[in-house]
Amino acid sequence: MSHATPRPVLSEATRALVRASVPALAEHGTLITTTMYRRLFQDASIRALFNQANQDGGSQPAALAGAILAYARHIDDLGALTGAVERMAQKHIAYHILPEHYPSVAKALLGAIGEVLGEAATPELLAAWGEAYWFLADLLIAREAAIRSEIEADAGGWRGWRRFTVAQRIVESELIVSFVLRPADGGAVLPHKPGQYLTLRLATPQGEIKRNYSISCGPNADHYRISVKREAQGHGGSRYLHDAVAVGDSLEATPPSGDFYLPDAPSRPVVLLSGGVGLTPMVSMLETIAAKHPQLETHYVHGTANSASHAMDAHVRRLASGHGRMRVASFYCEPRGGDAPGKTHDVDGLIDIAWLRSNTPLDQADVYLCGPRPFLRRFVQELAQAGVPGERIHYEFFGPSDEALAA
Ligand SMILES: Cc1cc2nc3c(=O)[nH]c(=O)nc-3n(C[C@H](O)[C@H](O)[C@H](O)COP(=O)(O)OP(=O)(O)OC[C@H]3O[C@@H](n4cnc5c(N)ncnc54)[C@H](O)[C@@H]3O)c2cc1C
Ligand code: HEM
Repeated sequence: MSHATPRPVLSEATRALVRASVPALAEHGTLITTTMYRRLFQDASIRALFNQANQDGGSQPAALAGAILAYARHIDDLGALTGAVERMAQKHIAYHILPEHYPSVAKALLGAIGEVLGEAATPELLAAWGEAYWFLADLLIAREAAIRSEIEADAGGWRGWRRFTVAQRIVESELIVSFVLRPADGGAVLPHKPGQYLTLRLATPQGEIKRNYSISCGPNADHYRISVKREAQGHGGSRYLHDAVAVGDSLEATPPSGDFYLPDAPSRPVVLLSGGVGLTPMVSMLETIAAKHPQLETHYVHGTANSASHAMDAHVRRLASGHGRMRVASFYCEPRGGDAPGKTHDVDGLIDIAWLRSNTPLDQADVYLCGPRPFLRRFVQELAQAGVPGERIHYEFFGPSDEALAA
């Protein structure tokens, strides 16, 4: 089945049926998507496209359920979903999802709606959802094709998986190690947008694992750097990188993707706010600001446990002192012996909104955030309450996004 030609606008009858299914979707959304994935993953080649860690915790089914529900709610005003469509398209580029994969999802989704809703899933409702699915799928397929051609046309661009060699391994803190990656074919790399991530395909002894890692260096034509926190309890992606990957080893990556990045010409001051390993996209932005935006007023606020967990601090401080309009403040919530404000860091405790209000230009700045879920949830909400409009709040979450983060 091919759906290369954009479909006409959805009919009123279809939109009415989709609208009417919102309460059932809200009630059963995650059950429908979990059922959908069970059906979808009966095909091993489709299953292999996914990051299974996000399935086990339920975060990917929850993200997809959230997207379907948002779609049904906005069926009369699809413009409201532009940002969400871009984020999905970027994720699909990251995992090298192609048009030929879409029919399997249609079949699994409609089968799941039928299975979960039972008799309520009338032939009319299923037909309406089939039409609605392909309408959204066609938008995604078209946007993904456009992103792919842009990437392939640019110097250093490539399609799908490309082999990289680990050129350097740098211990940044007790838990974070950086890897400098150069293409094994000796060619150039596509300069990323500062804030974007790479997706790695790791051949671990337990099988293949795919993981996203924000690029932690500024854009350039010959290498990427990623900085990885070792997650002792996880499924092994970060453990494999820490414990088994050495200089000279190779791994595969898709091109940089993601819709969280510093624009080419920032028009307002920026406040960068990170917690823990959430510093990686910020360091890429800071390197970019240091190299390309000498006039840009920049405030970087970072929170971590203490000096043992604090990565890349000396590098960041050097960038700030070379720039002149870049201020850096670090918060330690669990200072250890020898840590002292003014010496190892700036402030004891957790970053809070009152401090940000007094010390950064929240009333004018674009705010970029990255950190653990509670950190993001708190600041996305508190920034909104402090009067920062949604279009000036930009965040990256290191997992599938869900509605819960929205302010
Ligand atoms: C856009 C994006 C950018 C990212 N950038 C970075 C980056 O720059 N640096 C970085 O280090 N990471 C980054 N990540 C996260 C990264 O992709 C991986 O999720 C991370 O390395 C953990 O992978 P893992 O296989 O080691 O653990 P996973 O299995 O993925 O585990 C993830 C989390 O779940 C917990 N967990 C999993 N299983 C269990 C269990 N059974 N019991 C208790 N807890 C459990 C783990 O402790 C961990 O906190 C990014 C993610 C995204 C989506
Ligand atoms: C209309 C159809 C589709 C919709 C609405 C959709 C929606 C989504 C959403 C909401 C996400 C999460 C994005 C985020 O992290 O913020 C996502 C990620 C993803 N999608 Fe899709 N998708 C569709 C089709 C497909 C197809 C056809 C495939 C492949 C068979 C696919 C594979 C993936 C993968 C592998 C991810 C990343 C999963 C992860 O992070 O673990 N999607 N999609």
